[in-house]
Amino acid sequence: MTDLASVDYFSDGELAQNPFEYFDSLRSRNPVFREPHYGVVVVTGYQEVVEGFKNSEALSAVNAIGGPFPPLPFVPEGDDITEQIEAHRHLFPISEHMVVMDPPDHTRARSLLGRLLTPKRLKENEEYLWSLADEVLDEFIDNGRCEFLSEYAKPFATLAITDLLGVPQEDRDEFRWALGAAERSGIPVGALDHRTVAVNPLEYLDERFGGYLAERRREPRGDILSGLAAATYPDGTTPELLEVVRPATFLFAAGQETVTKLLSSALRVLCERPEYQKLLRDDRSLIKPFMEESLRFDSPTKVDFRLVRKSTTIGGVDVPAGTVVMLALAAANRDPGKFENPNEFRLDRRNAHDHIAFGRGLHTCAGAPLARMEGHVTLNRLLDRMSDISISERAHGSADDRQYVYEPTFLLRGLVELHIEFSRTR
Ligand code: HEM
Repeated sequence: MTDLASVDYFSDGELAQNPFEYFDSLRSRNPVFREPHYGVVVVTGYQEVVEGFKNSEALSAVNAIGGPFPPLPFVPEGDDITEQIEAHRHLFPISEHMVVMDPPDHTRARSLLGRLLTPKRLKENEEYLWSLADEVLDEFIDNGRCEFLSEYAKPFATLAITDLLGVPQEDRDEFRWALGAAERSGIPVGALDHRTVAVNPLEYLDERFGGYLAERRREPRGDILSGLAAATYPDGTTPELLEVVRPATFLFAAGQETVTKLLSSALRVLCERPEYQKLLRDDRSLIKPFMEESLRFDSPTKVDFRLVRKSTTIGGVDVPAGTVVMLALAAANRDPGKFENPNEFRLDRRNAHDHIAFGRGLHTCAGAPLARMEGHVTLNRLLDRMSDISISERAHGSADDRQYVYEPTFLLRGLVELHIEFSRTR
């Protein structure tokens, strides 16, 4: 029998289909375990992952997306490599985006996002989501079947962000097409891993938003983009144009693929467990715990990375400066020490909302309220407008022999396709 702990997590196709046994096997040896292929310290225990997220003093986010890829552009020296990281920061993938920044730059970038994601803006965006859900559903509801990711989840998640950012209505179709087209040519906007970090899939968006914001700085129009263009740092200084463009465009990378994955995994459970359809349809307040359990059970972001900049410990294990640490959120969310029978999807799980699918600490997901709202709106409208929602046996096999294919990436967990059938509610 293969020793699971010896498998290469980063390239093994089967682990991408089911990473949970691998995570369990590592956790049972040690929740802080150095894997043998790249020397990455893999953290699979709930407490230990939280500890890692919170220790931003010793752990840098500079490699949050790529982990061990590409290899470090320097040889770490000593117990504090802060200066080495700063000297080479520009060589790390997507170094211009906040998710890989450390304070003080991260604090400044995140403050600009705070100007955008105000309660008022989120409220307006929520109103749009209800009509958007119906518009996207209208495109295929009469067919009685659909491939849920391409026909609903992706366009819905993309258009939700175009609205949040105030992209003019007449340009939104172009975004939908352009971002979908990027995917068809093999550059999934959100799936940045060692296959794709070499290219910068956000360039299209940087250009587009650079154009909008430059124009709004010259001639403010009183719209959302004008507000963004006029945003200042907390100390009153005006950011360079690109410094405002990037927090905005990064929302697409962060919020498109992840939400698509959340919506499709939640719907898969709803189809496989028809009793939940009835329960949720009759009592809509159950949608909230259902979404939280979906986030815990099939966390869309499987892992995040950190680079140890000052030698420290995690869960009592020494991790020297220069170590690449993999904080496995998906493993933490199935830690039996935290969640009873973690491999069961349970609607009545009392502590489901303790999951860490949105991370913790300085980089906690800025879009969590939007992601939750997208789930809430989507499930409500699906339950309103469809009945007997079921998995297409033609596409995924019969109930006792289901075939689901997950994306072959070490970073994210999500179905490649989800074919469903349903009756239209009159
Ligand atoms: C189910 C959907 C989502 C999941 C599971 C998710 C997960 C995460 C996680 C785990 C992080 C932390 C990364 C780290 O610490 O290295 C993060 C950061 C982030 N997320 Fe999300 N996310 C989701 C949706 C969204 C949406 C819809 C948006 C925005 C529209 C968004 C915007 C961001 C941003 C801007 C960051 C970076 C925050 C920072 O570096 O301070 N996310 N997300």
